[in-house]
Amino acid sequence: MFRSRVAGTGHYLPLKILTNFDLERLVDTTDQWIRERTGIERRHVAADDEVTTDLALKATLKALEDAGKTPNDLDMIIFCTVTGDQVMPSSACVLQQKLGCDRIPAFDLSAACSGFVYGLSVADQFIKTGHHRCILIVGAEIIHRFVNYKDRETCILFGDGAGAFILERADHDDSNVILSTHLRAEGALGDLFVLPAGGSKKPFSQEVLDKGEHYVRMKGREIFKNAVRTMAAVCQEALEHNKIGIDQVSWLVPHQANWRIMEAVAEHFGFPKEKVVSVVHEMGNTSAATIPVAFDMARKDGRIKRGQFILLTAFGAGLTAGSALLRF
Ligand code: ACO
Repeated sequence: MFRSRVAGTGHYLPLKILTNFDLERLVDTTDQWIRERTGIERRHVAADDEVTTDLALKATLKALEDAGKTPNDLDMIIFCTVTGDQVMPSSACVLQQKLGCDRIPAFDLSAACSGFVYGLSVADQFIKTGHHRCILIVGAEIIHRFVNYKDRETCILFGDGAGAFILERADHDDSNVILSTHLRAEGALGDLFVLPAGGSKKPFSQEVLDKGEHYVRMKGREIFKNAVRTMAAVCQEALEHNKIGIDQVSWLVPHQANWRIMEAVAEHFGFPKEKVVSVVHEMGNTSAATIPVAFDMARKDGRIKRGQFILLTAFGAGLTAGSALLRF
């Protein structure tokens, strides 16, 4: 049995910025309400000619450089997204072509905001079995194109971005490895966050457009409660599985949806708030991209260092949730 280590990380946020003040001009909201209820101050949005794989490519090239690798070193691509370039072919295959590393397996993974933790877990299994040695996991979203800028409850939350990890087989004596991943899903709560149209259930039609069913819809308060419950539970699971105490964990990197959710998760399982990595103020919820982006930012600003225990946790539409504990 092999172990995997994070060899490199990278992220990319589009240049265009949408502030709370910009949103005040679009819907009945205020900067103060958004900051107090979510912690978000601004979010990045892709340019009209940018697609999701463009963002992913930029994050990937940074992660490869950080790992001291080239696209030819990769032997698998896992692209975590719910807002890919198109339904078919997969964004993973489009990215593979852009990277120029033909023939390796490449696939999309759909677990909404938990996508990156799911992707990390899948990659870890492939490396543990010895089948693969060097895997790209990229979380990338252009979610603003699926948000109704007339719905004040959703449009204030989301932004675009991409983050990537390069996972590789660790040497036998390397202790900086992924220690465990824990995933779960509760399909019975699927109606809390949906994008109703565009699938086989409701293909695009004039009626879909008229009713705005090509935009995300959510029950915010219910999501909030379930997010806190499930993230706290999967974090607890990770610590118990590894027999590691909270005091040994240097940083918790949760899905960046809302600062109040992150704060409540920390409270729920007794984790110090000052050790929670939050960059939600500068990017909002970028779905599957939030964890690798937040991780990379905290690394670059010196908070996250090699050798530390880091706990990642996410929840998303589905409802899905997961945690990953690693010694970085
Ligand atoms: N500006 C001003 N007022 C608003 C806004 C807004 N943008 N949005 C809602 N309100 C109003 C509501 O209409 C409500 O008014 P009412 O009391 O007259 O009915 C009032 O503010 C309070 O609404 P609540 O729902 O109680 O506000 P809450 O404190 O729960 O915050 C929020 C709402 C921010 C949506 C919060 O519930 C939340 O963050 N939920 C989780 C959302 C989320 O993470 N979604 C994505 C999950 S899945 C994934 O990440 C892909």
